[in-house]
Amino acid sequence: MADDQHQTPTEQQTAGHRSPHAEEHTGGQQSSMAVDRTWWKEAIVYQIYPRSFNDTDGDGIGDIPGIIEKLDYLDELGVDIVWINPVYESPLADAGYDISDYRAIHPQYGTMADWERLLESLHERGIRLIMDLVVNHTSDEHFWFRQARKSCDNEYHDYYIWHPGTEEGPPTNWTSAFGGPAWEYDEVVGKYYLHLFDEKQPDLNWENPEVREEIYEMMTWWFEKGIDGFRMDVIDLLSKPRDFPDGDPSQEWVGIEHFGGGPRIDEYLSEMHDRVLDKYDCLTVGETVSVGVDDADQYAGPAGPLDMLFHFEHVTLDYGKQGWWTVRDWDLPEFKSVFTRWQNQFDGWNALYLTNHDQPRIVSRFGDEAHRRKSATLLATFLLTLRGTPFIYQGQELGMTNYPFDSLAELHDAQAVGNVQSAIEADVIENFEEVRDLVRYRTRDNTRTPMQWSGEANAGFTTGDPWLPVNPDYEKVNVERERADPDSVFNFYRDLVALRDEHDELVYGEYHLLLPDHERIYAYTRTLEDRCALVLLNFAAGKTTVTVPDVTPSAAELLLGNYGTPADLPGTQCGHHDSFTLRPYEARVYRLD
Ligand code: NOJ
Repeated sequence: MADDQHQTPTEQQTAGHRSPHAEEHTGGQQSSMAVDRTWWKEAIVYQIYPRSFNDTDGDGIGDIPGIIEKLDYLDELGVDIVWINPVYESPLADAGYDISDYRAIHPQYGTMADWERLLESLHERGIRLIMDLVVNHTSDEHFWFRQARKSCDNEYHDYYIWHPGTEEGPPTNWTSAFGGPAWEYDEVVGKYYLHLFDEKQPDLNWENPEVREEIYEMMTWWFEKGIDGFRMDVIDLLSKPRDFPDGDPSQEWVGIEHFGGGPRIDEYLSEMHDRVLDKYDCLTVGETVSVGVDDADQYAGPAGPLDMLFHFEHVTLDYGKQGWWTVRDWDLPEFKSVFTRWQNQFDGWNALYLTNHDQPRIVSRFGDEAHRRKSATLLATFLLTLRGTPFIYQGQELGMTNYPFDSLAELHDAQAVGNVQSAIEADVIENFEEVRDLVRYRTRDNTRTPMQWSGEANAGFTTGDPWLPVNPDYEKVNVERERADPDSVFNFYRDLVALRDEHDELVYGEYHLLLPDHERIYAYTRTLEDRCALVLLNFAAGKTTVTVPDVTPSAAELLLGNYGTPADLPGTQCGHHDSFTLRPYEARVYRLD
C-alpha cells in the first residue's frame, strides 16, 4: 500500500448503531455500527523476530541489515506495518525482553545507523514500523538496577520494588511466569526485589513518578526518531498493590489477580496516553495477559488509552487443569465462542493473532501437520477475514510447523527451561524426558527457529551456525519454493491481502456467526452496508457437507478458496443444491447478493 493511502483521514461513515444485546454463542449480531476509518485498522502487520529472521554477518544470529535485505519480500507479501521484537542492548536472559539500555541497539543486531536505515527503507516503501516497549521490568544489568542494589539510600533504589520480607521469607507467595518464586533476596541491601519474570528481570516501581517520567521521555525519544507505534509488553501488569497480598495458590500464575490490572493501571496508562501517545499519529497494541472481554474497554475501548490489545483466551484454550503443564483438547464450538465474544462484545478494535514469538506454530496447534498446506491456508483465511487488524508472524505465511526438540540442551526459551528446572528442583518431575512431548508442543522456541528462505544449507538463514536449529522440513518449506509455486501458502496469503484490500466489508463489516454448534464448520458473514461476504471453513480432515441458513449455494459467488480458483469451484457441489460440501481443511470466501 502506498504511503498516501496510509494517510487515510479518519472519516465517519454511519452504518447505524451497535446492538447492546450481542449474544455470545449465537454471535448475536451488531445490527449496524459506525465505521471509524483509521490507517491501522486497514493494515496488515507482520511480526519479525530479528534474532531468527536473516543473518548477514555469519554469526548465526539474525540482524537488522538482514531485515533490510528482505524488504522486497515484505512488500511482495503486501504488509503495511512491521513490528520487531526487542533489538535493544540486553544480556539476553529472556531474548531481549531484559533491556539494559532502552536507547541503544544490541551489537549482535547491528548499530543505530542500521536501525535508522531500516526505518527509512521501510518508510520509503510505505511500510510503518512499531517497536517493542518493555517497561514492566528492565534487565538487572540496566544502570538503574545496578545503582538500585548498591544501597537503600541510592537515588535509584526506589526505581524497583523492594520488600524486607516476612518471618517466613519472601513477602508474598507470588510466582514468576518462568517458574519459582517472584522474589529474589539481595544480600547487599538485605531486601527482596520483585521479578514477575526471570530473576534477571526486576520489576520497575511505577509508583515512583521519576520512573514514569524516565519512561515517557524514552518513548518520546523513539517517537521523535520516527517510529509509528509500540507493541507494549505485559502492559496490564504495571501496577502492584502496595499491601502485597498473597495470591490464590491454585492459580497457575500465583498473584495474577493482584498484579494483573492492578489498582493504578488506568491512571498510569491514561497518563502515558496524555503525556506521550496523544501527541503522535501512532498505533499502540498492548499485550494484556490478564484481560477478558469485560475489562478490555478500559484498555482499548473507544475511550481507552490504547488502540488494540492482545488477549490470551484462544491461546490458552488448550491449557488443561494444570495450565501450561497439561494439554487439553479444545473443540470448535468453544473456539468459535471465544472469537465471537471478542468480535461482538468488545467495543474496541481487535488485534487478530494466532501465534507470535511466545506461542507454538499454528499448523501444529490449530491446524493439522498432515494437511499442512490446506490447514495453513484455512487459518490464513480465518485470520484475514475477521474484524480487526491481522498480525502475521514470520514463517506463518510459509506454513511452518513446530520443531521436534529432543533435549533440554536444545532449548533457549527461558520459560520452558525455567519451568522444567523448577519442577525438577521441586521434585515434581524427575527429568526432561518425562515432559518431552509437552515441552515440544508448548515451547516458545517453536516459533523462534530460523526463518526458512531456501533449500540451501541452514535454509539460507545464515552461513554460520544458527543459534537455534533449523526445522528439518526446510527443503520442502521455504520462501524460494513458496514464491515459485502459484498454489503455495505464501501466494494464498498474497491473494487474501489483495482480497481484503478490495473488500471493505472484510475490514469494517459486522461479524455474524452462523452454525455456532457445528463441530467442524466455522461459518460467518461480514456485512457492510449492502455488501456481504460469507466465510466457510472446514476445520476437519474429512469432507463435510453443510446447509447454511438462508444461503443457497447458487446465489453465492466464490471470491477465493484454498482448493483452486473460482472457475474450478462452481457454487454448488456434489449435486446438492441446498448444501455446500467442503473438502479437508477447505476454506472459501463467497460474496452474497
Ligand atoms: C511477553 C513477551 O512477549 C515474552 O516474550 C517475554 O518473555 C515476557 N513478556 C517478559 O517480558
